[in-house]
Amino acid sequence: MGTLNLAPASTADYRREAERRLPRFLFDYLDGGAYQERTLRENVTAFEQLRLKQQVMRDVSQIDTRTELLSHPATFPAALAPIGLGGMMARRAEVQAKRAADDIGIPFTLSTVAICSIEEIAAVSNQPFWFQLYMLKDRGPVKELLQRARDAGVETLVFTVDLAVLGARYRDVRNGMSGANGLWQRLRGQVISALLHPRWLWDVGLNGKPHTFGSLTAYVPNASRPDDFQSWITQQLDASVTWKDIEWLRSIWPGKLVIKGILSPEDARSAVRAGADALVVSNHGGRQLDGVAPTIEMLPRVVEAIAGHAEIWVDSGVRSGQDIAKALALGADGTLIGRPWVYAVAARGEDGVRKLLNTFRSELRVAMALTGCTDVKALTREILDTSV
Ligand code: FNR
Repeated sequence: MGTLNLAPASTADYRREAERRLPRFLFDYLDGGAYQERTLRENVTAFEQLRLKQQVMRDVSQIDTRTELLSHPATFPAALAPIGLGGMMARRAEVQAKRAADDIGIPFTLSTVAICSIEEIAAVSNQPFWFQLYMLKDRGPVKELLQRARDAGVETLVFTVDLAVLGARYRDVRNGMSGANGLWQRLRGQVISALLHPRWLWDVGLNGKPHTFGSLTAYVPNASRPDDFQSWITQQLDASVTWKDIEWLRSIWPGKLVIKGILSPEDARSAVRAGADALVVSNHGGRQLDGVAPTIEMLPRVVEAIAGHAEIWVDSGVRSGQDIAKALALGADGTLIGRPWVYAVAARGEDGVRKLLNTFRSELRVAMALTGCTDVKALTREILDTSV
């Protein structure tokens, strides 16, 4: 109990607090990965194993962490990653995170399967946000979603390509979140766990409604029944999508296109050929194919293949400002922050996200100062120590 009142500072602190606040099935959905969670773990340890090189006695009195991500100014090279069901972790969590991202000055990405709708996010402020798309079999709703996004001022579309099928996540199966589960298993896994977390029950369970995928309600029959939603989504995910479909997407989307979920130089080249303005080196935070390489290890190969032809961003394992410095050192133009923002919103709401993002920015500033860099462009392999 002693630690309960201490202010969380690092991602690990917010994670611990989120674990206390959330019903087990939601924390596991957020925190867990596919199968044995090997890739989930290695994403983080691969960042940890990279060493920074301390370089001193340079004038670092003026440090500038600012950059541009696809011509969009960002106070440091990061954006919030799209997170499905985010709004189950805190009351209207996507709204809270959007506000925090606006305040800090980095982009927010809204998931296709977010709880808050495109319109609800657009109403938060005039600052643009990014919209993430999963391709649905039924192209009618896809067209409509993109039109709604444009009407809401979205200029950047993040198209996710690593979810042709859903990765199997054992924690979710055990908790009755996915797979074929009987009523008793669900009851034990979800209802009882929710009752044991009265703060969440009050904040989200009772006062955070509706708990539907906000942007999709218009297309789902029986939108208010979670089970119908779940099966609609599963049945709508289009596993037949290929690079050819990007042409169609390009024909109806005049804005910037980001392809998220690239993990090899070959796919990176295909994404560039298909007309991507940026791509995200990502393994979906270890939630899809367990056993694939950590993203930070694949990044240099993707950079070698396509640098100069599209912006290259990376996610999966970014837990601090030092990690952002390392990603840029290996050639990334930017990073997406995934689980950390959700731990923060679950633990402390909008203020938690703001504080965590501030921490990331100051950690980056310190990493720059002590590796002798005053500008993010100076973050090159020179700041990594490979001698030991
Ligand atoms: C995700 N991710 C994701 N990606 C996406 O394109 N659309 C989505 O709806 C979701 N949903 C989602 C839910 C949850 C709970 C998590 C943890 C992740 C993947 C996400 O955008 C990002 O790629 C990963 O979170 C990066 O890994 P780390 O840094 O969070 O480990």
